[in-house]
Amino acid sequence: MIVLGIESSCDETGVALVDTSGAGVPVLLSHALHSQIEMHQAYGGVVPELASRDHIRRVLPLIAEVMSQANCTLPQVDVVAYTRGPGLAGALLVGAGVACSLAASLAKPVMGVHHLEGHLLSPFLSADPPEFPFVALLVSGGHTQLMWVDRVGSYELLGESIDDAAGEAFDKSAKLMGLPYPGGPHLAKLAEQGDPAAFKLPRPLLHSGDLDFSFSGLKTAVLTQAKKLGDDLEARKADLAASTQAAIVEVLLKKSMSAMAQTGLKRLVVAGGVGANAELRRQLNAVCRQRGIRVHYPELHLCTDNGAMIALAAGMRLQAGLENLQMTYTFDVKPRWPLAEIIPNPGL
Ligand code: KG4
Ligand code: ZN
Repeated sequence: MIVLGIESSCDETGVALVDTSGAGVPVLLSHALHSQIEMHQAYGGVVPELASRDHIRRVLPLIAEVMSQANCTLPQVDVVAYTRGPGLAGALLVGAGVACSLAASLAKPVMGVHHLEGHLLSPFLSADPPEFPFVALLVSGGHTQLMWVDRVGSYELLGESIDDAAGEAFDKSAKLMGLPYPGGPHLAKLAEQGDPAAFKLPRPLLHSGDLDFSFSGLKTAVLTQAKKLGDDLEARKADLAASTQAAIVEVLLKKSMSAMAQTGLKRLVVAGGVGANAELRRQLNAVCRQRGIRVHYPELHLCTDNGAMIALAAGMRLQAGLENLQMTYTFDVKPRWPLAEIIPNPGL
């Protein structure tokens, strides 16, 4: 089956085609992406209304682009998949509306995909794909979660952030330092020139004994430190960035290792935008090597939002027999949608 996937949950419009007909993981035939980063940069963050309007402008040309890249025509598409949530309501509605109208006009089924399931399965498109079961560390702009992943569609939440996500901690701290949106990659770049031990910043919930995270205190500590530095902030910015990154990475690393110890599993999958962080990858690789744990990441360009992961998740759910495909085109989006809610439907 040829699956067309459409992602429009936040500030990236992504479209992709996968083929599920082989024996293994769906094969990525083509994908195309438009990032709105430049457009939102002037405002220091995502402006939801502008995001929705830009998705409308981009989505059809991107669909045409993936079709031509794969040398495929619309009637050859068997299923149209879109991100149903979580995300910005208006932005999600664009993808959902386009997917449903396209599917209706082609008389093909349509399916809504969970954005985090897309992130979580995205390492299956890498050169070193994981095997089930594994622990997943999901670190995106809005979520920080540790999940036990048994197989496609079977996700048990082990722990999550009780306030800010790790991506938010990166972004908000970067904003305090006057770095452009999105802060994460800018802070990471600046941190390369700084001393990670320069400032003592808190590692919230590090010794809480559970697998939950908290990052809002860290952001407050960065603010306090920035105020204390006053005019010296500019000169010490790289040190503050490196110290902030060190605090976030240490918490993510230690909690992930606790999850590995508690579950006894030997495979870790890291997914979501923060999974692109080079320092996180470096430290995780070193610790996992010592402990005999295999760690898997998505390809760098598929860490942040994209259509490939949505087409892939749809394709893998279809292969696993988890979808009861229907030709109904009424849709609702789910701006808030816990991943653990998409457990296999016993009625199928
Ligand atoms: O998964 P994603 O693209 O969007 C959501 O689903 O939220 O993640 C975006 C997040 C942002 O917070 C961004 O700053 C962060 O990922 N990010 C990074 C890096 N690249 C992206 N954070 C730290 N280091 C990076 N290299
Ligand atoms: Zn995402």
